[in-house]
Amino acid sequence: MQNIEQLKSAALQAVENSTDIKSLDEVRVQFLGKNGEITSILKTLGKLAPEDRKTVAQSTNEAKNEVTDAIEAKKQAFELAQLEEKLATEKLDLTLPETPYKLGKRHPISACIEELETIFARLGFSVAAANEIENEHFNFTALNIPAEHPARQDHDTFYFNDFEEFNGEQQRKLLRTQTSNTQIHAMQAKGAPLRIIAPGRVYRCDSDLTHTPQFHQIEGLALDKDLTFSHLKGVLQVFLSQFFERDVKLRFRPSYFPFTEPGTEVDIECVFCEGKGCRVCKQTGFIEVLGAGMVHENVLKAGGINPEEYQGFAFGLGVERLTMLKYGINDLRMFFDSQNEFMQHFGKNL
Ligand code: PHE
Repeated sequence: MQNIEQLKSAALQAVENSTDIKSLDEVRVQFLGKNGEITSILKTLGKLAPEDRKTVAQSTNEAKNEVTDAIEAKKQAFELAQLEEKLATEKLDLTLPETPYKLGKRHPISACIEELETIFARLGFSVAAANEIENEHFNFTALNIPAEHPARQDHDTFYFNDFEEFNGEQQRKLLRTQTSNTQIHAMQAKGAPLRIIAPGRVYRCDSDLTHTPQFHQIEGLALDKDLTFSHLKGVLQVFLSQFFERDVKLRFRPSYFPFTEPGTEVDIECVFCEGKGCRVCKQTGFIEVLGAGMVHENVLKAGGINPEEYQGFAFGLGVERLTMLKYGINDLRMFFDSQNEFMQHFGKNL
């Protein structure tokens, strides 16, 4: 018993005598460490006679707690002293210039989508959106691409194993392959007349130098009582010229989209060689930028619109492609790496 009391006083004295955090820690190891002097007594309790065990255990634990508390108090005192010394000696130079704060930038894809929204807002188009998880009806059937139509195979579609009931049939769920699904949703929700654009993500099971499994499109749709192909040409001419900040020359090539009649692919005069022919335009002088056409009557019907009363045009464009052409970016993957140098150069100031 005497032994434990003596040990405790020795320990408390050692704590008192310690001069800094390091020597204090040495004291802790000496008495309370794994093989410390107090710890060792606790380890031998089992060997004591049962009648002694309780009292020895109690006094040893008390000693242990007291020494632990003393160490903790001493440690705090050292830390406080350190802090006070630092405050007393440290000088703060308020005349130093601040460290420049590095701001991020808006991703060029987001910036281009915003810019296109602004251009189309001036032409009277509002922004619509629809789900990226869609079913076959909205991505294909309602767009005049029935189940057995070969055009379904043109899109390398990501299908889910889930189905959902729609129009009394089981419709397989999928990731939309085109923003054209918004045409149907917008017609059903708002009816005609209608003028919308719908930017968003689309997905195709395709990945190489010029394709990524996820990319962005902007869909456009205008319906009214007497819209013609000339209106489509006018809108595309204005928007592409504003976007590329020059008077771009357009070329319309007849093309097939099941949801348009007639359908067209639209090229702009090559922005790199101004039509003279270069590597980018493969010596043709033109670059394809979007698909468009007059809305097929089956699509109007699927959207709940009477084709005898209303007609209109639709178009769809790839945002990555348009952005690459505008800024002369030649590697699609740079958009997804988001390297700081790339973002600082092509991103838009916040
Ligand atoms: N959805 C078509 C595509 O992804 C583009 C398009 C939209 C074409 C609207 C015509 C009209 O290729």
